[in-house]
Amino acid sequence: MAYPDFNLDHHWLPFTPNRSFMQQPRIFVAADGMHFTTHDGKQVLDGISSLWCVGAGHKRKPINDAIKKQLDTLDYATAFQASNDRAFEAADLIASMAPGDLNRVLFCNSGSEAADTSLKVALAYHRARGEGHRNVFIGREKGYHGVGFGGMSVGGIPANRKAYGTALLPRVDHLRFIHDAASPAFTNGTEPERSEDLLLELEQRILPLHDPSNVAAVIVEPVAGSAGWYLPPKGYLKRLREICDKHGILLIFDEVITGFGRMGCNFAADHYGVVPAMLNFAKCVTNGVIPLGGVICSDRIYNTMMQASAGSPEHAIEFFHGYTYSGHPVACAAAIATLHLYHEEKLFERAGQMGKVLGDAMHAALKELPHVVGIRTLGLAGAVEVAPLAGAPGKRSYDIFIDCFQHGVLVRPAGDNIVLCPPYIVEKPQIERMVGVLAAAIRRNA
Ligand SMILES: Cc1ncc(COP(=O)(O)O)c(C=O)c1O
Repeated sequence: MAYPDFNLDHHWLPFTPNRSFMQQPRIFVAADGMHFTTHDGKQVLDGISSLWCVGAGHKRKPINDAIKKQLDTLDYATAFQASNDRAFEAADLIASMAPGDLNRVLFCNSGSEAADTSLKVALAYHRARGEGHRNVFIGREKGYHGVGFGGMSVGGIPANRKAYGTALLPRVDHLRFIHDAASPAFTNGTEPERSEDLLLELEQRILPLHDPSNVAAVIVEPVAGSAGWYLPPKGYLKRLREICDKHGILLIFDEVITGFGRMGCNFAADHYGVVPAMLNFAKCVTNGVIPLGGVICSDRIYNTMMQASAGSPEHAIEFFHGYTYSGHPVACAAAIATLHLYHEEKLFERAGQMGKVLGDAMHAALKELPHVVGIRTLGLAGAVEVAPLAGAPGKRSYDIFIDCFQHGVLVRPAGDNIVLCPPYIVEKPQIERMVGVLAAAIRRNA
């Protein structure tokens, strides 16, 4: 298949080394099921669900049909002062899938907007309760909550923060990272056991420093996805919820990656048996085909916000926040079709089953390879950690990513990790191929 050359002069690629990309462009022009077609006619196996989004695989007819039908029915309607039927239907479906009292969905368009929305809800909620002084946020080292100023401030990936100085939110602290030299390096589907209590510093240093009565919320990814699939130690999230409850602090789970099936169930909150006060989602909710994100809030938060406005006139808005495209009918139609498709094809259960296949295959094929210092697998995702090249952190994993791409498999470099997180429809031979290509690339880059 021949394609004309592209004019590469105008598209500035996000989170990409643009100079090297321009030398060696990787451009997709079509996708179907588990595969892409590149501009020069090669087939590439999608080993990362296209940034953790495409759970049901590419070009799924029920989703595409729902979008086309929606476009011909109601293409868009104002999101403020009126709404659309699809937004209510999607919110209903999402709330029915969410655990505990998480029942009120605030829609947005991305994971970054979900992060900032959830932080704003936390501040507004505390203020509504007469505790407007609660304005400290606690994130975690190596956390990723997108690229808005709020999400970046509570995020903990140094490269994402270092250029922004005092533009970051001022009253933010960070929990220490969940993985260090004392953590088990190789875990396959199990929760890492730690003798040390990683949350003691929250109780004994961070909260006393700020005074717990000033803390609005703690935000964490249940599993640290963007940093390279790092798992919380056994009991960590339960204890985090207990500490938050004790001090009236809202716990926010950022489930942009872990939500909607990656863990083999609806949410990581279900996997770990911990219900947060807010749960952020995006990505897999629409199978990646149309931007949609959101924050699922507890009844308590919603009711408090409504009651606080009880004395205000009827036309008064309770929460001054929203996006032009909050609950966009086409995105919501895509979400409804996606969530039905996941259910009909039992794709979350399948993700759990194929996760075991992926975990076993990665540990069997990669553990003994040169420079491999760790492998962590859980749900349908796994990371292999390689020792960094001296003076060039991230270079070895980047070279391995390029090598895999040249051999027809899309993997994801994350720091010194290479991550595999295929669509839930992946077949065993495709897992074997991904892992085989990755193993050969690790050997070639030893
Ligand atoms: C946990 C988490 N939160 C937020 C985001 C940001 O999402 P988006 O890129 O849609 O803004 C991501 C993206 O990978 C993520 O993994």
